[in-house]
Amino acid sequence: MRTKVAIIGAGPAGLLLGRLLDRAGVETVILERRSQEYVLGRIRAGVLEQGTVELLEKAGVSERLHADGLVHDGVELCFDGERHRFNFRELIGRTVTVYGQTEVTRDLMQARDASGATTIYRAENVSLHDFDGDRPTVRYVKDGIEHELACDFIAGCDGYHGASRASVPEGSIRTFERVYPFGWLGLLVDRPPVAEELIYAHHERGFALCSMRSHTRSRYYVQVPANEKVEEWSDDRFWDELRRRVDAETADNLVTGPSIEKSIAPLRSFVAEPLRFGRLFLAGDAAHIVPPTGAKGLNLAASDVGALAEALIEYYAERSSAGIDGYSARVLSRIWKAERFSWWMTSILHTFPDTDAFSRRIQRAEFDYLRSSDAAARSLAENYTGLPI
Ligand code: APR
Ligand code: PHB
Repeated sequence: MRTKVAIIGAGPAGLLLGRLLDRAGVETVILERRSQEYVLGRIRAGVLEQGTVELLEKAGVSERLHADGLVHDGVELCFDGERHRFNFRELIGRTVTVYGQTEVTRDLMQARDASGATTIYRAENVSLHDFDGDRPTVRYVKDGIEHELACDFIAGCDGYHGASRASVPEGSIRTFERVYPFGWLGLLVDRPPVAEELIYAHHERGFALCSMRSHTRSRYYVQVPANEKVEEWSDDRFWDELRRRVDAETADNLVTGPSIEKSIAPLRSFVAEPLRFGRLFLAGDAAHIVPPTGAKGLNLAASDVGALAEALIEYYAERSSAGIDGYSARVLSRIWKAERFSWWMTSILHTFPDTDAFSRRIQRAEFDYLRSSDAAARSLAENYTGLPI
């Protein structure tokens, strides 16, 4: 089998890249380790920047997003029970759209299936070869049979634990990492959200977040120690803890119910450099991880593949390698801005094991500064709603 671009991974990065390339007449094959149902079963974040919405429009998959997505003008931060709203629309004329990553993935899968492009699910033992030369190949096993896919380029969109980054020789790649000593325990519930916009709460007992998927489905999180077991958290314990960490009004208004999903996600910052190795490119979680606090994970994945699609389309249309040569530096500059913002949001909102009285006052001073300075609030708004590539 032969294709132009072999894409490893059918998460949002791989699927969006496939869609952007297919629409421009650049043929792709996607190889995914899991089943389609498994990929759709993963619950992830759901805040889309304007730039991500525009890319999904360009990919022709924005109909349901515009019908069901919730446009939010701002977010609220809550410190020790005091809430403050940041109105992004008023501050900088921008908004965000709340629409679950699971739904983005579903829309992209449906469009790909309808277009007839090839996606191979349950592709096992995916391995990448000869991307240093002119004729890269990808080998995989499907239903016990070995296959080889020849291609011009490989796009590694297979997430943090994927085969793509792992196949780069150690001396050719540098990685930067911070693992946080806590995770987020998330709960999904079919009850209306407690407020119209997201509430990010700092409390001595730990961070909490009130989010949503729709007017009838809510997503809540509480910070827990890194080694916490989800089985130790009954729904009642979760709701009690959440109430303690938010302001009194939010606690009173909370509509609780039985969880339909509950899981713990670790928090990590990670960047690989560079993101191009001959004919292999890394994009999305394969290239970087951000803690979820800034809601940047999906948006970064989208901007990576937006830039990669542009570069590859230019290569085929004009036989120019300027775009692919510039890919790594171009996306890394945005990635580090998002890393900085996500790290900063994480550090002001969470309680760290070594958070002493001084650090607590500094966190509080950050909040007071954001509340009192228009410039600081605008900076928050700019970073949260989108960063220039
Ligand atoms: N071979 C084939 N596929 C693989 C392999 C492999 N060796 N390893 C992983 N995969 C698949 C995974 O099963 C997954 O479906 O690659 C896909 C990667 O998808 P994601 O983890 O969703 O990563 P990405 O598409 O980059 O999306 C980034 O996801 O984790 C969130 O916060 C993150 O929102 C961001 C988004
Ligand atoms: C979510 O709804 O899952 C969510 C929202 C905002 C974040 C992180 C997660 O910053």
